[in-house]
Amino acid sequence: MRAVVQNEFGGPEVLTLIEDAPVPDPIPTEVQVRVSHVGVNPVDGKTRGGASVAKLMGPFPITVGWDIAGEVSALGAGVNRFAVGDRVFGMPRFPYPAKGYAEYVTSPSRHLVRIPDSLDSATAASIPLPATTAYQIVHEAADVRSGQTVLVLGAGGTVGTYVVQMAKKLGATVIGHATGGKLKRLEVLGIDRVIDYASEEFDDPNLGGGPVSDVDVVIDLIGGQFALRAVPLTKWDGIVVGVPSGQQQGLDAAAAQAGVRWTNVIVEPDHVALDYVATLIENGEFHVPAPATAPLEDVVEVHRQMDDGRLPKTVLTLIP
Ligand SMILES: NC(=O)c1ccc[n+]([C@@H]2O[C@H](COP(=O)([O-])OP(=O)(O)OC[C@H]3O[C@@H](n4cnc5c(N)ncnc54)[C@H](OP(=O)(O)O)[C@@H]3O)[C@@H](O)[C@H]2O)c1
Repeated sequence: MRAVVQNEFGGPEVLTLIEDAPVPDPIPTEVQVRVSHVGVNPVDGKTRGGASVAKLMGPFPITVGWDIAGEVSALGAGVNRFAVGDRVFGMPRFPYPAKGYAEYVTSPSRHLVRIPDSLDSATAASIPLPATTAYQIVHEAADVRSGQTVLVLGAGGTVGTYVVQMAKKLGATVIGHATGGKLKRLEVLGIDRVIDYASEEFDDPNLGGGPVSDVDVVIDLIGGQFALRAVPLTKWDGIVVGVPSGQQQGLDAAAAQAGVRWTNVIVEPDHVALDYVATLIENGEFHVPAPATAPLEDVVEVHRQMDDGRLPKTVLTLIP
């Protein structure tokens, strides 16, 4: 089968498309999926380069990619949740490898969910990892409640737009931090207030429209010093939730002093979370934009653009 492999960590050029990778067979409890589309996420690039979950990828050659959409092509013993031909999506095994940039993958059956009829496979492949992350942040780590104020740093990104929609759905007041065309998009999604980071600092006490203060929940999707800067804006016993990208220098002490809780989320495969999102999409209650698509053959260029920070949400196509 076709698969993208790499024999060392490095830049996009280490990614090589081969035609003769072995097709994996499902063990009991697993299904085999013929992948039509695989979503590209920041973790794919970080792992390719030797960071993030690279340590868990096993010996070379390795294959990155988690967000798969396709059709069940074989069932392992004991699997009853699916039949051959079902359209499914998911993020198998994360943070262990799913080997998603390939024509066939195997997955524990409970790491997959049926794709709603109304959803095309390319869009489906753009959803699992960012939407599951958002669910595990909003519904679990932060446990957002109606009436709370939620500040989302990096609100215009892929995870951010899911976070905003989930928090709004729970009845929270949501303040987002983004720039450019993403500001308008967040408004369309019903955000209560947006701060344009190109012209304003979210923690400026003289912020036009009034300073941000007394926030119940901060969700930091950027990393670095952002979470630390948000602590003084957070209520006593409020919570800061982050994705762990080099943040946390001094966060422990600042949070303890302010009486603020903080935690990190590392996403796990979760068919409950993905089913929740699938149902909202099917009911027209959740908006997911169509991603850009590129053929699997263009994987090196796609990763180049991701490294340069100019890649829109993109899905690699294996079966057009
Ligand atoms: N821990 C986990 O399990 C987990 C799971 C999923 C994602 N993540 C991580 O979460 C992050 C977001 O993922 P994603 O898929 O949403 O990525 P994304 O679509 O690329 O979004 C990132 C967002 O952050 C914004 N941003 C980056 N640097 C910024 C800065 N200095 N100031 C203001 N905004 C900034 C970007 O804004 P612009 O486009 O305007 O630059 C963009 O909207 C990534 O680091 C990813 O690796 C972690």
